[in-house]
Amino acid sequence: MANKNENDTLVNDCDIITRKEFIAQTSAFTAAITITTSSTKKIINKLSAPAPGMLTVAMNVNGKEKTLEIDPRTTLLDALRENMHLTGTKKGCDRGQCGACTVLVDGRRINSCLHLAAMCDGVKVTTIEGLGTPDNMHPMQEAFLKHDAFQCGYCTPGQICSAVGLLKEGHAKTDDDIRELMSGNICRCGAYQNILDAIKEVQQNA
Ligand code: FES
Ligand code: FES
Repeated sequence: MANKNENDTLVNDCDIITRKEFIAQTSAFTAAITITTSSTKKIINKLSAPAPGMLTVAMNVNGKEKTLEIDPRTTLLDALRENMHLTGTKKGCDRGQCGACTVLVDGRRINSCLHLAAMCDGVKVTTIEGLGTPDNMHPMQEAFLKHDAFQCGYCTPGQICSAVGLLKEGHAKTDDDIRELMSGNICRCGAYQNILDAIKEVQQNA
């Protein structure tokens, strides 16, 4: 037999539940959902937290936001090469003596082998890959090509990043200034004169 409840909803006798029962069941259901949601959040937080002993570092690299989970001892050079696979930046001495690893951090040239990636949270890093592409080269890359300013090319990404930083600093007035201010970038092939010519051309055209 069918009845009408107080809200005129047609229900079977066996389906009729009181308002009190309904509210009790709904509350239990809501509580269950709340517990499940907070448990899920805890699991998600646990999964997204860095593993013990690791650090989460976020930086902008060549215009792209990157978030890394790294060992606190990781250098910026290793983070670029090993974690982000940006192998344009070269590892020469790995102790701050050759300049092969030079990149720009917030526009300033630094030796990335001497810089911990953990110190780069929130900074803007530009590597040789971010300066230009083969189809759309940075003026300094074009000048290095034009002046044949490399032989083996191993030091070249660092030389170019360093030269870009040097011109931005604005301290180089003479050839000797350029030589002195580029002295942290060693070229074992001895392409120094051609490197100087390339930098001077970009400086004159700026
Ligand atoms: Fe960094 Fe040599 S690799 S200075
Ligand atoms: Fe070979 Fe500079 S071009 S080390």
